[in-house]
Amino acid sequence: MFGCKFYILVITFIFICCCDGEKVRFDNYTLYGVFPKDEKQINLLRSLQDDTRFDFWNDPSPYKEYVNILASQENKQYLEKVLLEHGIEVNVAVDNIQELIDKERVNKYTRRNLRSMTWNAYYTLDDIYSWMEDLISSYPEATEIIGGISYEGRPIKGIRIYHGRANKKIFLEGGIHSREWISPATVAYIANELLTSPIDEIRDAAREYDWYIFPVTNPDGYIWTFTNNRMWRKNRRPINAQQTGVDLNRNWNNNWLVAGASIDPSSDTYPGPGPFSEPETRTLSTYIRSISDGMEFYLSFHSYGQLLLLPFGNTTEPLANYFEAINIGRRAMGALSVRYGTQYVTGNVAEAIYHATGGSIDWVKGHLDVRLVYCYELRPDDWRVGFILPPDEILPNNLEVMDSILELIYMSKRITAPSAAPGPGASFLFIFIVGVMLHLFKY
Ligand SMILES: *[C@@H]1O[C@H](CO)[C@@H](O)[C@H](O)[C@H]1NC(C)=O
Ligand SMILES: *[C@@H]1O[C@H](CO)[C@@H](O)[C@H](O)[C@H]1NC(C)=O
Ligand SMILES: [Zn+2]
Repeated sequence: MFGCKFYILVITFIFICCCDGEKVRFDNYTLYGVFPKDEKQINLLRSLQDDTRFDFWNDPSPYKEYVNILASQENKQYLEKVLLEHGIEVNVAVDNIQELIDKERVNKYTRRNLRSMTWNAYYTLDDIYSWMEDLISSYPEATEIIGGISYEGRPIKGIRIYHGRANKKIFLEGGIHSREWISPATVAYIANELLTSPIDEIRDAAREYDWYIFPVTNPDGYIWTFTNNRMWRKNRRPINAQQTGVDLNRNWNNNWLVAGASIDPSSDTYPGPGPFSEPETRTLSTYIRSISDGMEFYLSFHSYGQLLLLPFGNTTEPLANYFEAINIGRRAMGALSVRYGTQYVTGNVAEAIYHATGGSIDWVKGHLDVRLVYCYELRPDDWRVGFILPPDEILPNNLEVMDSILELIYMSKRITAPSAAPGPGASFLFIFIVGVMLHLFKY
């Protein structure tokens, strides 16, 4: 009951906040596309990343040509000056990011009308949860699961899809970074397809596995992106009088605070005062552990950059069943590219982005016996829009991701490689197959 009272308190607080006009606007905030050309420039950008006046939308990395940085009107000049002084190429991607935010379509879900959930708009937490409840009451194979609880007392709600026979599990985790709106939209879509699709392959996948699907694992943060600040990434726990929020994907108890996090609580990558300090990660990890028996896949969804990441983030060394996972992952990204030509890069966190630790996939791989663990960095891979994926791209994104998941499942049964480097024969065959596919689809 305490939770309930607290919930009401929080709603009241948000309401007051909004009426006070405290919703953060991003008028005249400029999104830059910055192009570092060597290690030195990348390092300069990394040091600038600690300056909380600037919002880095992606991480400087030798493997991504661009870095998106958002700066307010008053900080723009300084940013441009520093970059130019160091000879770093900088372009304006969006002059006024508020205009892009205003174009994001948010639809309303109508209770007991499953068709009013569409895939060309975003939805609030209330709407996603109502829709999930309606799905659950319409399909007997779907049941409600609660994966944990947020700081403000909200349940982390999920759908389990289980036809009573499967013994292998697939776990989907979305929305841990609240501003990455495409992530809950993707995860919700997958649940929808598993329950409603007429396509045989999808129906088989629904029957063959025991699915645990959580579209929004950071509910407080997600709400905050609608009510107060579109760019909010962390949870909503106050750290001190001035600062709020922990980066929930730096808070898991695996190599916590080893790399890619900042001990400054105002930073977007603040990992919390200790591993699993946050109710969301503590309760969700306990839940995951409790059902980890027979878990074959763990899939986490983020945006953006079009990457398929696998553990670990502390080293580029190929650990655990790296070669098997890379092999299966690459083929799934091949399948993803067929529909629209969308290209993803596959690699472990450290080699595809940079060293970053304390994320969910590393904890799952390091502590539980889960065979295939991946993190999608979804669309776009476009320095001109960053997070603000145009609503028209939601459905294409969802369709291609669904293609890739079917391929992950298919390949997981065909490839049972030992955890060793594939021989030259296998690499050659792989390159040959990719070559033929590229030729066929003219990419
Ligand atoms: C944005 O910039 C324009 C042009 O400099 C200015 O007229 C306008 O007042 C600014 N808007 C805000 C909200 O600061
Ligand atoms: C990286 O983390 C993994 C998993 O926790 C661990 O087994 C490995 O020894 C670590 N490697 C390095 C170089 O720190
Ligand atoms: Zn993320």
